[in-house]
Amino acid sequence: MHLQKRLVEAARFIENNSPIKPRLGIVLGSGLGSYVDHVKNTVSIPYDQIPNFLAPSVEGHEGRLVLGTVTNPKSPNSPAVPVAILQGRLHLYEGHSMDQVAFPTRTLCMLGIDTLLLTNAAGGINPSFREADLMLINDHINLMGDNPLRGPNLKELGPRFPDLTEAYNKECQEVLRQAAARVNVTLREGVYVALSGPTYETPAEVRMLRAMGADAVGMSTVPETIAANHLGVRVAAISCITNLAAGITSQKLTHAEVMTNAGRAVTKLLSLLDEAIPALPHVQVQKSGDKP
Ligand code: HPA
Repeated sequence: MHLQKRLVEAARFIENNSPIKPRLGIVLGSGLGSYVDHVKNTVSIPYDQIPNFLAPSVEGHEGRLVLGTVTNPKSPNSPAVPVAILQGRLHLYEGHSMDQVAFPTRTLCMLGIDTLLLTNAAGGINPSFREADLMLINDHINLMGDNPLRGPNLKELGPRFPDLTEAYNKECQEVLRQAAARVNVTLREGVYVALSGPTYETPAEVRMLRAMGADAVGMSTVPETIAANHLGVRVAAISCITNLAAGITSQKLTHAEVMTNAGRAVTKLLSLLDEAIPALPHVQVQKSGDKP
């Protein structure tokens, strides 16, 4: 079936099952799903109930869409942000096409979100990074060998040759920096490079990635960033540095270590998200229900 028809079908189903009209989309990466406990008035829909959605196969990825509202816990009377959260994502390495990987993000965009906030687990390449650090993504390098926009362009969705000069919105980056300072969370900053995986990198590859200008490496986020930019949705993204990339230390990498360190980073990530999300521009809905 035609992509746009599949998207409309998924979006209609979600709209018929939830009164929330999301302004912000959030994608929670490996081991980071617990943010949904901070959301109120939730409606949770398993991916396998949503038309044209696929369920993730990776441990640590739940596979649920959660709609609800978020306020800053320190000022509960402030305007609420209606959110749609993808608790678990699809990856290229699971055998999915770029089209399938980007489908849930594109569906959030069809629901009318203004901004997309992506999170992921990543390996630290920048030698000053430590395990459980958070990194604000300020640009990316796509080494996945594919692009979600490959194939005929749907001009109803966006342009054939989208500009990615500001793939990660500068205004949102500044909100995240200031929020991190207010809650005393050290926020590193840098370039995220995406590879297809599922192997972790070799030390030689990590040296190459460092020479290219990458600060962190992972297997996600870039497809969603490209798809959202194509649809005119602003993107912000945070990496949890779950491990130092291969060869930066002599230690071997395991998914178990990645999950354990995601748990260490999650406390910082949650306090950053609590502070930053209500401060993001254009996403609040006033008490009257009107858009700002
Ligand atoms: N490499 C690629 N992806 C990752 C890593 C890594 O070291 N850690 C978490 N996701």
